[in-house]
Amino acid sequence: MAPRFALVTGAGSGIGRACAAVLAEDGHRVTLVGRRLALLEAAAAAIPGALAVAADLATDAGVGTVADAAPERLDVLVHAAGAFRYGPLAEMPTAAWRALDAVNLHAPFALTARCLPALRRAGGTVVFVNSTAALRGGPNAGAYAASKSALKAAADVLRQEVNPLGVRVLSIFPGRTDTPMQDEVLAAENRTVDRSTLLDPADVAAMIGAALRLPRRAEVTDITVRPTQPV
Ligand SMILES: NC(=O)c1ccc[n+]([C@@H]2O[C@H](COP(=O)([O-])OP(=O)(O)OC[C@H]3O[C@@H](n4cnc5c(N)ncnc54)[C@H](OP(=O)(O)O)[C@@H]3O)[C@@H](O)[C@H]2O)c1
Repeated sequence: MAPRFALVTGAGSGIGRACAAVLAEDGHRVTLVGRRLALLEAAAAAIPGALAVAADLATDAGVGTVADAAPERLDVLVHAAGAFRYGPLAEMPTAAWRALDAVNLHAPFALTARCLPALRRAGGTVVFVNSTAALRGGPNAGAYAASKSALKAAADVLRQEVNPLGVRVLSIFPGRTDTPMQDEVLAAENRTVDRSTLLDPADVAAMIGAALRLPRRAEVTDITVRPTQPV
């Protein structure tokens, strides 16, 4: 069987790291992307044949670095890199909106565009790690919710544009998941929760893995997965 290749952004921690592990277990050679090389190398150490690429996806140069490092055939492209910003919409600085949109919205599409020829060669799948905030945002998460809602809208259009090329598009909408980003959210909310009620990153990665394992004639378009207990 021909080798299969995957590229995962945000792969140094949380959901991205869990996705990289599942993809490797399913036989992919995985490229791990994020800004902190030490985290990527630690994740890569547990994955035979994994490659770590450090880049800031909020910049054009960073997207270029990752695109240049991507394999020529790409079976799976997972966009898990993301950022959160807490605060009421009326007080959100313009620079903060732009910074969120850069990593949550523009980077995934700029990278997908650069990787599209490689995805077409493989008949690949693009996975957007979205959020339940895209479907129903709450107070103080408006800028984040807006960036993720726009990500959903763009993914829905991309699907129509690339399905005829043999490329599948999946959006997954996780609820609160036990990751460093959720630590940041809970700290901003000044809350402590029973962490066992949160999703585990492996739960989200398992859903993505299940969708990817379907034959290519079948496309899972949207998955919502959330904690059973309200958090
Ligand atoms: N945790 C939740 O409750 C939850 C719920 C729904 C959706 N999500 C989404 O899940 C995705 C993964 O988040 P997570 O919860 O797993 O948190 P996380 O562990 O903090 O992961 C976010 C990753 O994104 C990377 N990243 C951030 N900015 C970047 C940039 N400019 N360039 C390259 N990489 C960048 C970070 O690595 P570096 O800092 O090293 O770059 C980090 O590895 C995000 O899109 C998030 O919105 C999370």
